[in-house]
Amino acid sequence: MMMSSGPSNSRTPLHLSGNNAPVASEVTRRPSAVIGAIPRELRGQYFRNGPNPRSGWSPHFFAGDGMIHTIALAGGRATWYRNRYVRTPLHAQPGASRFALAFDPVTSRLDYRVTTANTHLIAHAGRLFALEEGGFPYEVTPGLATLGAFTFDGALESPMTAHPKTCPGTGELHFFGYRVRPPYLTYYRACAAGQVVQRQTVEVPRATMMHDFAITARYVVFMDLPVVFDADGAAAGGPPWRWEDSHRARFGVLPRTAQAGQADQVRQAGQVGQNTSVRWFDVAPCYVWHTLNAFESHGTITVTGTRVPSLWRSGPQDLSGGLPALHQWVLHLATGRVTETPLDDTPSEYPRIADNRIGLPHRYGYTTSFTLDAEPHHAEIYKYDLTHGALRSTHRFPAGHTCGEAVFVPRSGAGPDREDDGYLMTFAHDRARGTSYLAVLDAMDLGAAPIAEVHVPVRIPAGFHGNWIPAPLSEPADPPP
Ligand SMILES: [Fe+2]
Repeated sequence: MMMSSGPSNSRTPLHLSGNNAPVASEVTRRPSAVIGAIPRELRGQYFRNGPNPRSGWSPHFFAGDGMIHTIALAGGRATWYRNRYVRTPLHAQPGASRFALAFDPVTSRLDYRVTTANTHLIAHAGRLFALEEGGFPYEVTPGLATLGAFTFDGALESPMTAHPKTCPGTGELHFFGYRVRPPYLTYYRACAAGQVVQRQTVEVPRATMMHDFAITARYVVFMDLPVVFDADGAAAGGPPWRWEDSHRARFGVLPRTAQAGQADQVRQAGQVGQNTSVRWFDVAPCYVWHTLNAFESHGTITVTGTRVPSLWRSGPQDLSGGLPALHQWVLHLATGRVTETPLDDTPSEYPRIADNRIGLPHRYGYTTSFTLDAEPHHAEIYKYDLTHGALRSTHRFPAGHTCGEAVFVPRSGAGPDREDDGYLMTFAHDRARGTSYLAVLDAMDLGAAPIAEVHVPVRIPAGFHGNWIPAPLSEPADPPP
């Protein structure tokens, strides 16, 4: 069956063109074909979130209602595919003003349940969360039913970043929330069982758009960069964020452990710890959507991420500030100096590492080619060997095939010395057929043909982030339709 890539024409904005166009239906389908062999050890579900405006139109890529797509694998078979919206107040009222739904004119407070929940999907303490940085997490089931907004028993008093970090050593979930009013930035740490045990404000001079951060074994690293909240612009009905040359670009390093007793403070008295121990390091002006990782070594903290020289100088449709590319900052703790090194000039985004290396020294990183072309000729996945001058190897998809973020899944039994012994999973789109597939690549042999392609009889739009969640999930996987 041939299917359209979407209602594109010359006036369709980039974020609704080609495979960025939303799909109209929520479906459950059996995969239509498998090419290659799905590794029998892969038992679980791959989830990917992304914007899919229910009304068919949104003013910005970031504004579409969150839709999650999932494929279940077990025993060498792909059993089912499903897509579902996250049921939020915005989903319930397509096209409604987010501000109008969220703002209470009596209290002047924002309701953080009003969110698109469109950016990421993570698992923590047996729950699945759809995340978007402007609101609370939304808990969903493995079958993609929405359970509702989640606040960690009321401990979450701000929005929650869509990029929390799970410490591989402790199982703790580290995250933050930023707001447009004081306190602008709050850091949270939830234990492996899911309770918030640390919550503290981090002093910053104003609200900046903070999409991601990083952790190391002992620190968290915030990025206070020059995309600032524009209250006047927002009040006039314009974009709320803009580039501001006078805002210093800084990375902030905060010890990640709480003061003794702070966990009880949070739980019993609702106190918010005041932090004074963040240390700031000036960096060259830039914006960083995503970190790849950070780690400590010999009195330094190394942060790697995808950097653009500037962003949104003339508003959130202005992408003339350069394309993202992999970049490294080394923060020297003794001197306060920062050494910066561009690692590549080939544009790429969606950096991922093996999750068991988060916050730790690592050798490899994976990114996806990036272009502003709505219908690029093809897409590529890159693997960087950071111990060899960021040596890049490439998986090139066929002409007319595009893909998204590549999620690393370790092979069972992979030794600790084989960081890249595993698979890379991504959704790919075949423009000629109008349908999509899950590609499973060999991370150790990136140039090889995919180990498996799981084709589905529908189009899966380009989206943002996701994860492979191994079984057992918190409910039995739904039977195939
Ligand atoms: Fe992101």
